[in-house]
Amino acid sequence: MTATAKRKASEVVDDAVPPTTTAEAATTTTTTTTTKVVDLIKNLGGYDNMISQGAEGRVFAVTFLGKPAIVKQRFEKTYRHPILDKKLTKSRLNMEARGMMRARKLGVITPTLYYVDTHQAAIYMERVDGASLKELIRAGAMTEEEMRDVGEEIGRVVAAMHDGGLIHGDLTTSNILLRARDQKVVVIDFGLAHNSIIPEDKGVDLYVLERAITVTHRSAAMFEHVMAAYKQHSRQWSASFNKFAEVRMRGRKRSMIG
Ligand SMILES: Nc1ncnc2c1ncn2[C@@H]1O[C@H](COP(=O)(O)OP(=O)(O)OP(=O)(O)O)[C@@H](O)[C@H]1O
Ligand SMILES: [Mg+2]
Repeated sequence: MTATAKRKASEVVDDAVPPTTTAEAATTTTTTTTTKVVDLIKNLGGYDNMISQGAEGRVFAVTFLGKPAIVKQRFEKTYRHPILDKKLTKSRLNMEARGMMRARKLGVITPTLYYVDTHQAAIYMERVDGASLKELIRAGAMTEEEMRDVGEEIGRVVAAMHDGGLIHGDLTTSNILLRARDQKVVVIDFGLAHNSIIPEDKGVDLYVLERAITVTHRSAAMFEHVMAAYKQHSRQWSASFNKFAEVRMRGRKRSMIG
């Protein structure tokens, strides 16, 4: 080899990526795989099985680790600042996961949480086989006795959450499922759940629930059972009821004006 050729060869080596040890090489590979965002929802075939699309996100049915599951993915809001949006989305995702876990600890049946994927702003949970209370009310599918039982169960469940300092934040009939195998009440959608012991917050939760349940004359009676059971099970029912009455009054005034 000539002197020039030798110099050229060493230059090539100098310019090249420094030689790595096996350990370093392994780390490099890991880093590459973790930073590469895997579209898990796509891999699981979720996009072909969308079951709902709301203002905040989409819900897909998938099989996760061999089990029927639901993936709830939050949208990125293009009108928000990207960094702020990422932070907000992440905090909402955590709020939802935490709310679900807290409710469970308080004896409320919620889907089992499987996985939180912050890359895709998605939360994976058990898929509950059943119908929503909204569907059941619409179909007029429940007997009076069933409505009484379900109403009482909802009242007990909401009292347990409230006495435990947990506000659901969106207690509508589409967020209450009746499990097919045992007709138990399963509460979902903790995306707006938060910790609070303020009676006003409890009153608002009850008001949202009342509006959702009393859509038909038949179902209106069900709310009476909710309230009776709430009173029976909540230690602070009186403060919650007072605020509920206030919130309701404000709601009425607003609808009379508006
Ligand atoms: N774990 C579950 N098992 C069965 N069905 C579910 C489950 N989670 C959600 N669903 C179905 O998907 C619908 C939408 O889910 P969810 O209420 O959590 O989302 P959303 O209302 O779009 O959310 P948000 O109110 O946070 O925007 C539910 O009304 C229900 O029919
Ligand atoms: Mg919902």
